[in-house]
Amino acid sequence: MSLPTLLELLRLATGYLREKGVEQPRLDAEVLLAHVLKTERIMLYVHHDRPLEPEEVTAYRALVARRGRREPAPYLTGEKEFHGLPFRVTPAVLVPRPETEHLVAVALAFAGDGAWHGFDVGTGSGVLAVTLAVRCPQARLVASDLSPEALAVARENAQRHGVDDRVELVEGDLWAGREPRGAWDLVISNPPYLTAQEMAGLPPEVRWEPQLALDGGPDGLAVIRRLAAEAWAHLRPGGLLAFEIGASQAAACLELLENTGHYRDARVTHDHAGLPRVVSCLRAA
Ligand SMILES: C[S@@+](CC[C@H](N)C(=O)[O-])C[C@H]1O[C@@H](n2cnc3c(N)ncnc32)[C@H](O)[C@@H]1O
Repeated sequence: MSLPTLLELLRLATGYLREKGVEQPRLDAEVLLAHVLKTERIMLYVHHDRPLEPEEVTAYRALVARRGRREPAPYLTGEKEFHGLPFRVTPAVLVPRPETEHLVAVALAFAGDGAWHGFDVGTGSGVLAVTLAVRCPQARLVASDLSPEALAVARENAQRHGVDDRVELVEGDLWAGREPRGAWDLVISNPPYLTAQEMAGLPPEVRWEPQLALDGGPDGLAVIRRLAAEAWAHLRPGGLLAFEIGASQAAACLELLENTGHYRDARVTHDHAGLPRVVSCLRAA
């Protein structure tokens, strides 16, 4: 029996993933095949008539079957790009989302590339802290998470990008025991913000992600409420608090910040789809 060519296998896998309801079946079929062959996606087209070895077919079949069960592709390849940088991801961390790049943009616009100090609350894979440290070579950040497994992934990413000497990873709740000294230039966070209703109806891929990274309590604001109440005391006067939100949470978040009496210049940044995505404000003097 002749071995299937690369293109034949891609067609089969694409049809299978389409049947299983995967949103971009061809793209994922290519990403997984490129991963198995340890090559770039573009090379699949260059070598489209290459027959595959039996062990390559077996490895690919196994990955395609898992993708068919709606396991996110980044958990299968162990990689996801964020802000133009490659990051390691595992099921211990949220898959970094392109929308979160808006939070990086807000932080960069405020802080510039000086020698500032930042705090990333709920760092997960470390994408925010590591990206900011890469983009701002004099910045120093502390990045916290409740999950030691997530912090291990963040550590790997900080080392991979050569910023582990400027990104300190700490395990614990929000500030991980750091005293509020009114000294940080910026506090950023992509906190869990899904509501109980959203948690009950998660799309198939999202069900594979850690509950701790998603669940924001009944109204989705449990962690955001605590951030609003506590961040000001950690920030220097004029320092920036910026966090990601769900599309329907902007008004509630602005009200939370206003009610503390500790912030000024609160604003909402929208994503490319025109949805509210980031809330930011400055610590009042
Ligand atoms: C939505 S994920 C964001 C991960 C990453 N910053 C990103 O943008 O892809 C939220 C992260 O916050 C962590 N987390 C949840 N509650 C926390 C808390 N009270 N203190 C510290 N980290 C928390 C979760 O473990 C998870 O890694």
